[in-house]
Amino acid sequence: MAEKIIVIDAGTTSTRTMLFAADGTPLGSAQREFRQYYPGPGLVEHDAAEIWTATLACTRAMIEKAGGADRIAAIGITNQRETVVFWDRATGEPLAPAIVWQDRRTAADCAALKEAGHEAAVRAKSGLLLDPYFSGTKIGWALENWPQLREAGDRLAIGTVESWLVFRLTGGVHVSDATNAARTLLMDIGRGGWDAGLCDLFGAPIGLLPEIAGCTATVGATAPDLFGGAIPISGMAGDQQAATIGQACLSPGQTKATFGTGAFILSASGTRRPASDNRLLSTILVQEGDTRLYALEGSVFVAGSLIKWLRDGLGLLSSAGESEGLARSIPDNGGVYLVPALAGLGAPHWRPDALAALSGLSFASGKAHVARAALEAQAYQAHDLKAAFAADGVDWAELRIDGGMAANDWMAQDLADMLDLTVERPDFVESTALGAAMLAATGAGLYPDLASAAAAMRGRTTRFTPALDAAKREARLAGWQSALAKVLAS
Ligand code: G3P
Repeated sequence: MAEKIIVIDAGTTSTRTMLFAADGTPLGSAQREFRQYYPGPGLVEHDAAEIWTATLACTRAMIEKAGGADRIAAIGITNQRETVVFWDRATGEPLAPAIVWQDRRTAADCAALKEAGHEAAVRAKSGLLLDPYFSGTKIGWALENWPQLREAGDRLAIGTVESWLVFRLTGGVHVSDATNAARTLLMDIGRGGWDAGLCDLFGAPIGLLPEIAGCTATVGATAPDLFGGAIPISGMAGDQQAATIGQACLSPGQTKATFGTGAFILSASGTRRPASDNRLLSTILVQEGDTRLYALEGSVFVAGSLIKWLRDGLGLLSSAGESEGLARSIPDNGGVYLVPALAGLGAPHWRPDALAALSGLSFASGKAHVARAALEAQAYQAHDLKAAFAADGVDWAELRIDGGMAANDWMAQDLADMLDLTVERPDFVESTALGAAMLAATGAGLYPDLASAAAAMRGRTTRFTPALDAAKREARLAGWQSALAKVLAS
């Protein structure tokens, strides 16, 4: 009987496929890292063919674990957002590197568009800001600078990562979902379709873009030769929206923070599109049928990637988990602060040019201080977003956290302490994959709607309550603000 769900979670540094039971119980996972290409300062690229190969291998492993394609009710896909892939629709092969969300090559283009007064109109339609983070300026840049894309004419297909994967899985369906489309700068998120004016402004030919589908729509089925049977693809959302769903944050005000490569905080807003006066983003949370729910988002670009950099770039840690013991090994931060602007700064600052800084060092500082400063930075960045959300009228009653880094108990408690808020963490921290499983299960008809799937499939949680006295919290926040101010001033 087809009763299991496969989820493909195509993240920034690895692709993972997970197998779920219909009640949300995780049954297995396979993961493959792929290469990060850094061809120059501020440039970050992926090879979409590597993402596809990793996806295929991991998905085959999980289908085998399930007992074959006929045991799978549906596939759900969730993915790193904004990253753009360019491929040939005749051959299915990439025509250029994929430009990753962290890439800042279009910072000058964004500044010029801002200077020319376009930001207000762009915000009004797309809910986003003029920042190199989003796909629109990346597409315009690629078409201008990579002649093979222009030469491909109508054979060129453009899409974000879920769109690329659906094309390869189905053997030719060119589709995206509303949450991923909402991150391109090309969508009118109120109306729900590509906007001709925005496409013109960013130089993205509308005819080369995918069709936009709802998140629980069955967009196609896998080509039978791939997995020994056609499996419907019936759930799709960008990874941060999927995590919000996986945390069952569907009612207005419910808020989650996912600590993956970056840290992304989304607060559900209901059917009314939110507007921010504090440099937060307005985005589509989910589209079920024709009904769209919205969210307010604060995007922090560096979270888990900071720990990865301390481990792989600096060799300071032997494993990511070591950071927790190091943080606990010292009584306080010793005045050391790390402002992790390794890929510029996102919300609420939006400074693609900002550079990271480690401050407050003396001979008394050791690697424990650096590791602790890296973990503390997560709470400080979340704190700054909490203030921005509050200024927009969204006061968090509690914060639900997830993502690989959220498994760190020290960090979870530090978040509760610095935010002065209850922090809730599911025992299964891969809320992104669980959210995509909820979408796919709904799309496959295992649940009548997404809210029922979310209620039935979310597992047990642990709560962390604030335990730090106010004076200590204020002193630490003052230290962070002064370190941050120096970064912003330079
Ligand atoms: O917007 C970028 C985001 O989708 C990347 O997510 O999971 O790789 O941190 P992640």
